[in-house]
Amino acid sequence: MNRKPRIVVVGSSNTDMVVKTARIPTPGETVLGGEFLMTGGGKGANQAVAAARLGAEVTFVAKVGMDLFGEQAVHEIRAAGVNTEYVTGDPETPSGVALIFVEESGQNSIVVAPGANASLAPADVEAARPAFEQADVVVLQLEVPILTVAYAIRLAKDLGKRVILNPAPATALPSGFLNGVDVLTPNEIEAAMLLGAPPGADFQPAAAARALLKEGVGAVVVTVGAEGAIIVEAERSDRIVRVKSHPVIPVDTTAAGDCFTGALAVGMAEGMLLAEAAGFANTAASVSVTRLGAQASMPSRNDVEQVLSEFGHA
Ligand code: RIB
Repeated sequence: MNRKPRIVVVGSSNTDMVVKTARIPTPGETVLGGEFLMTGGGKGANQAVAAARLGAEVTFVAKVGMDLFGEQAVHEIRAAGVNTEYVTGDPETPSGVALIFVEESGQNSIVVAPGANASLAPADVEAARPAFEQADVVVLQLEVPILTVAYAIRLAKDLGKRVILNPAPATALPSGFLNGVDVLTPNEIEAAMLLGAPPGADFQPAAAARALLKEGVGAVVVTVGAEGAIIVEAERSDRIVRVKSHPVIPVDTTAAGDCFTGALAVGMAEGMLLAEAAGFANTAASVSVTRLGAQASMPSRNDVEQVLSEFGHA
């Protein structure tokens, strides 16, 4: 391909308020935390920024409030090189915000106030049809209304485009929703939730991936944290491909999954085979967890190439 890969991301934009803490407080408890960071977040925006930093031409479709947070969020996304032509303002609702605690281990917990993300409508997706027409890959998550996500899946499929759905945050979906999705990228919690598995049930990523393929998905890539990812494709569902992670000392795992999905989209749009694209995505995600913040942690192409040239594919 002698042009940049083209990716459309439809999804959320938040302002993340991040506090580092020795441990996450229990209900009713106050703890004194450490470093504070206010930075661009939102699963959609994070994936858009990840893909742009890795070299893709990215168009983002989103809704922000007409306030300072929305203005700053759009400014940061644009500064990362993302086309924000289809990011519109909602005059009645504040911009999305996420409150994030990050423990010393790098683990986090997040509460999102969706704000304007909840008013991203099918009509906003339809307005971005020209960008869909030009796209190599369309990327979606579940932090905006599912009717809007469903519309985006159908529009992309009608135009013959490949769709990656990152089913985050974890939620159950109506029957038939996943039909036509080319690549689904759940983590273990999201995969279990999609399958209606009881909490704490013994989780087998490969079995979960095979069960999800029955929903009409082309391939399932289950991310398993520091273990990497496993891939099962509908065409060869007897075969399990494992992609390992590079060992790193995590600082903040926030948005590692977003980095993975954005990078996977770049790899696929560049024509890599799914396993190769997942290896590239795993390397990108392993760099992102060594940095604090969501968009602030997304690596450049150079960062990823450097790890690959030093350590090779994990
Ligand atoms: O996936 C991480 C993201 O989830 C954060 O940036 C936060 O905004 C929430 O959307």
